Amino acid sequence: MAMTTQAKLDAPKVRADFPVFEHPIHGKPLAYLDSASSSQKPRAVLDAMREFYETSYANVHRGVYDLAERATAGFEGAREKVRALINAPSAREVIFTRNVTEGLNLVAYSWGLDNLGPGDLVVITELEHHANFVPWQQIAKRTGATFRAIPIDDKGELVLDSLDEIAAAGQVKVVAANWVSNTLGTINPVDKLTAWAHEQGAIMVVDAAQAVPHRRVDVQALDCDFLGFTSHKICGPGGAGALWGRRELLEQMPPFEMGGEMIRSVKLEETTWNELPYKFEAGTPAIAEAYGLGIAIDYVTGVGLEAIEEHERELAAYAMERLSELPFVTIYGPPADRRAGIVSFNVGEVHPHDVAQVLDWEGIAVRAGHHCTQPLMTRLGIAATTRASFYLYSLPEEIDRLVEGVQKAHKALG
Ligand SMILES: Cc1ncc(COP(=O)(O)O)c(C=O)c1O
Repeated sequence: MAMTTQAKLDAPKVRADFPVFEHPIHGKPLAYLDSASSSQKPRAVLDAMREFYETSYANVHRGVYDLAERATAGFEGAREKVRALINAPSAREVIFTRNVTEGLNLVAYSWGLDNLGPGDLVVITELEHHANFVPWQQIAKRTGATFRAIPIDDKGELVLDSLDEIAAAGQVKVVAANWVSNTLGTINPVDKLTAWAHEQGAIMVVDAAQAVPHRRVDVQALDCDFLGFTSHKICGPGGAGALWGRRELLEQMPPFEMGGEMIRSVKLEETTWNELPYKFEAGTPAIAEAYGLGIAIDYVTGVGLEAIEEHERELAAYAMERLSELPFVTIYGPPADRRAGIVSFNVGEVHPHDVAQVLDWEGIAVRAGHHCTQPLMTRLGIAATTRASFYLYSLPEEIDRLVEGVQKAHKALG
């Protein structure tokens, strides 16, 4: 069956905004199927960052001269764009970080060290990226709290029936979960998890790295307590990310890093902290990168998050349909109607790295490995997968090429 594009998103037109596609790989057009790892950048972001550096760059917040004021306006304007993107109540609750990893570490260390102890439970899921697993595991160890994972079923979906049993093991203090699994594409019921966390008196931390670039996110509707994402996956530059946190919690938390900018006053005897969000932004931030993130947000919202979500859903369904025509391919994760634009699979006994290598010769970029989800790999009983992931510039033809490449890999190595 050919894929029926509902033409809400004009992917070829969108694709023309991305200069990377003008450059062949091994003499072939680039099929970039690794957007879950990092997205490509549209000309609008590249041009805006160049112009910012050429006309408006200085350090932020400190200068009284025109250039510094322009830089600060660009930087703070980006903060407001992040706020609007996730419908946060206030831009003061939006903290610029280096990436989502830093945002999640900030919560784990700053909130966790002060609020966790023996008898408390830290609940994550078997689907977590290491960025939302290892910090909580380590903070649980340091504080004496118990660390528990919500299991998944064989389709890679959370077993919510296990929640009561988990809660019996102690006082649930924090639930930390990704919205969309970067390995399986599972869309997690973060609304249900948030409601459950609050029933237990716990806070809810959402790793939205794979959600914010691909679907509409509203932290007030979700009612979570912290939510983080990363710029480089939403068409923005690397080196920037954002963490939103509920003001009451952020106000109570100690700073994560210390130095310039995050202080109100420093004396030999004592230091006091700056107001939100600066208390959590020690040192010179990634100024042009934050600005570039703001431009990326304009770009992605201009295309339309609903249209992007639908486009990726169709591509995932098409990829699963085409790949399942190959009897030697095993696909992991939930059915197409319950997943985002991410498809992980294995090709017989061929190692995923070899599959990815053969695909690269065809100009097709996919990721192979554990995708920073080793506990999930253990649960699935495998060491690695090959992963194709889609974004607003992805085309069905790229999936056809992927399927041909997988056949080649199997013929040569299977
Ligand atoms: C679900 C999820 N969480 C966290 C991360 C880490 O992102 P970053 O390296 O930008 O901090 C990723 C990146 O792949 C991810 O997919």
